[in-house]
Amino acid sequence: MTDKVKKEDLSMASRLSVAPMMDWTDRHCRYFHRLMSREALLYTEMVTAPALVRGRALHLLDYNPEEHPVAVQLGGSEPAELAAATKLCVAQGYDEVNLNVGCPSDRVQSGCFGAVLMKSPYLVADCVTAMLAVAGDVPVTVKCRIGVDDQEPAEVLPAFLARMRDAGVTRITVHARKAWLEGLSPKENRDIPPLDYDLVHEMKRAFPDLHLSINGGVQNLDVVEEELTHMDGVMVGRAAYHQPYDILGTADQRIFGRDADPLSRHDVALAMEGYIGRHIAAGGKLAQVTRHMLGLFAGQPGARRWKRVLSEGAHKDGAGFELVREALPR
Ligand SMILES: Cc1cc2nc3c(=O)[nH]c(=O)nc-3n(C[C@H](O)[C@H](O)[C@H](O)COP(=O)(O)O)c2cc1C
Repeated sequence: MTDKVKKEDLSMASRLSVAPMMDWTDRHCRYFHRLMSREALLYTEMVTAPALVRGRALHLLDYNPEEHPVAVQLGGSEPAELAAATKLCVAQGYDEVNLNVGCPSDRVQSGCFGAVLMKSPYLVADCVTAMLAVAGDVPVTVKCRIGVDDQEPAEVLPAFLARMRDAGVTRITVHARKAWLEGLSPKENRDIPPLDYDLVHEMKRAFPDLHLSINGGVQNLDVVEEELTHMDGVMVGRAAYHQPYDILGTADQRIFGRDADPLSRHDVALAMEGYIGRHIAAGGKLAQVTRHMLGLFAGQPGARRWKRVLSEGAHKDGAGFELVREALPR
C-alpha cells in the first residue's frame, strides 16, 4: 500500500502491530518489516512534540510511502503543542497519531512525557482532546501502562481508560506491566515487574466498545492468536525486532486471513536490493539499513554467519548490496 489507509482498515491492521521502539523502528526498519507483512500496523519511534513544534525537526516525520499503514507516536504533555504536532503528522499523511503514555526513560520523564502521565489522567484527556480537535478523520490513539510506581493497576487502569473513552479515544494499547519511574532502568522495566495479562483481558470485558490491544512479552504468533481470542489487537516489540520473520513472515496468512504465499527469508533479503541501492546512492550507509536485518534468519542454519558478515562489513566504506548476497545462508 502506498496510500493512506481508511479507518476501518486501520482497526483491522491493528490486530497485529509492531511497537514503537526508539532507535529501532526507524524508516529503514519499517520498510524491511513491511516486506514481510502487507497488513500489520507499524509504529514509528517516538517523536517529541517539542522537537517538531519548537525545533521544527520535520525530517523526523519522513517515511517511505510503502510503509502504510503507519502510525506516528508522539511524546508530549502540552495540549496546544501536541495539537500543533498532530497537525504536522496529519499533513504528512500518517494513518494514525499515537500518544506515548508508557515509556519510563529518564529523558522522557524530565520532559514530562510517557508513563509519568499515567499519574495525570485529566491532563492526558486534555492532550487527546486537543489532538482529536485537529486530527480530522485520522485516529488519535494512546499507548499506556497498567499503572506506575505505587499505583494500584486494578483501580487506575479502568479509571484511565474511562477518561480516554470520554475524551473520544476509541483505540488504546496497554503494555501489561507497571512502569517503575525510579530505581529501574528503562531496559529493566521492560521485564520487571511481572506482566498482568488477566487485568488487561478484564479491561476488554469492562470496555467492550474500546478497541484494546495488549502489549508485553509476546514471543510468537501462537501467542498472538491466543491473545486475539481475548483482545482486539496485539502489539509486539522486541520479538518483532529480533525475530522479525517469526512474527511477520506468515502474519498476513495467519492473522489477517490472506491467501497469498508468504515470501521466504531469502526473498525478503533480496527484496531489499532496490531500497538499499537508493539509500546508498543518496549518500547513506549500508549498515544503517542492515542493522535492522540481523535477526532475519534467527533460529535458522546460517544465522550466525549472516549476522557476522553484515555486522563486520556493512559499516565499511563502499559496502553495498553485494555484502547482503554474500551473507545469505546457502
Ligand atoms: C529499544 C526499545 C525502545 C522503545 N521505545 C519506545 C518508544 O519510543 N515508545 C514507546 O511507547 N515504547 C517504547 N518501547 C517499549 C515498547 O514499545 C514495548 O512497549 C515494550 O518493549 C514491551 O513489548 P515487548 O515485550 O513486546 O518488547 C521501547 C522498547 C524497546 C526495546
